[in-house]
Amino acid sequence: MRTAIVTGGASGIGRALARALAARGVAVTVADLNEPADLAGWGKGELEYARVDVTDAEAVAALVARVAGERGRLDFMVNNAGIAVGGTALEMTRAHWDRTIDVNLRGVVHGVLAAYPIMVRQGHGHIVNTASLAGLVPAPLMLPYTATKHAVVGLSLALRAEAAEHGVRVCVVCPGFVDTPLLDNANPGLPATRVGAAARQAIGHGPGRLYSADALAADVLRGMARGKAVISAPASARIAWRLARLWPGGAVRAAQLASRLVNRGQDGRENGPRDGGPRPPRSA
Ligand SMILES: NC(=O)c1ccc[n+]([C@@H]2O[C@H](COP(=O)([O-])OP(=O)(O)OC[C@H]3O[C@@H](n4cnc5c(N)ncnc54)[C@H](OP(=O)(O)O)[C@@H]3O)[C@@H](O)[C@H]2O)c1
Repeated sequence: MRTAIVTGGASGIGRALARALAARGVAVTVADLNEPADLAGWGKGELEYARVDVTDAEAVAALVARVAGERGRLDFMVNNAGIAVGGTALEMTRAHWDRTIDVNLRGVVHGVLAAYPIMVRQGHGHIVNTASLAGLVPAPLMLPYTATKHAVVGLSLALRAEAAEHGVRVCVVCPGFVDTPLLDNANPGLPATRVGAAARQAIGHGPGRLYSADALAADVLRGMARGKAVISAPASARIAWRLARLWPGGAVRAAQLASRLVNRGQDGRENGPRDGGPRPPRSA
């Protein structure tokens, strides 16, 4: 039986991916901070929950070694756990940066460090890293998030190049906005910001009006089967990515416009420093 580990598998995109894999008969380990209450009802296929914090490299390594050892193989390592941060560059503190790098980037690195050698030894396997459209375009008002997602894209594509000769496949998932609890939980455990406090409002779509995690999971499995390097959805995300490649300067201009619109939408004026001090020069 094929096996998979899905980090962040208790909620949102990870949950949808875990369920979709299980529905295809894959034995799935849902690795997350909290156990999903309804795991038993997720359908056919063997499912287990393992508590893991992806920022803990040793815990991730122990989990991956245990699953591969017990099952005799590891087919899919889905490094998906992530957090959202939102706010202007002026609002982002060192804590926002550190936490985002720890979860969104180091979490993926820990999964790769643990799973890749096992997959190379067995001569097959598929590493799936969840980045974001924010890893492909200059997404403003969430600098640490954008930076870590760009890093995950680079890591994934470079690893894909190395891994091919070992029979190991690597892809990176770059969704636009997807309807998950993440959009209501920006800056978890971190200092509040004006934009981050209302991410869903800033996007302008309430629950049920965004792309669903189940639709994305279907896109991901289809993209994996086709051997895609970058899996991006919905179509609007793929268009934004394509435009950014064709016209990088235009992408920055569009990001500038979006940043101003969101800022103005928050309080009727552009955000300045929180202490009300002087604005930085326009060229900063
Ligand atoms: N939703 C979107 O619009 C969107 C768009 C592009 C990319 N993504 C990316 O997709 C991935 C999944 O996001 P989602 O939207 O599905 O969010 P979600 O519904 O909040 O699910 C993320 C899961 O990861 C868990 N998690 C957080 N920190 C963790 C840690 N240190 N160790 C283990 N698990 C941890 C969360 O647990 P808690 O709930 O307990 O924190 C949660 O169960 C993320 O990498 C995100 O950046 C999301």
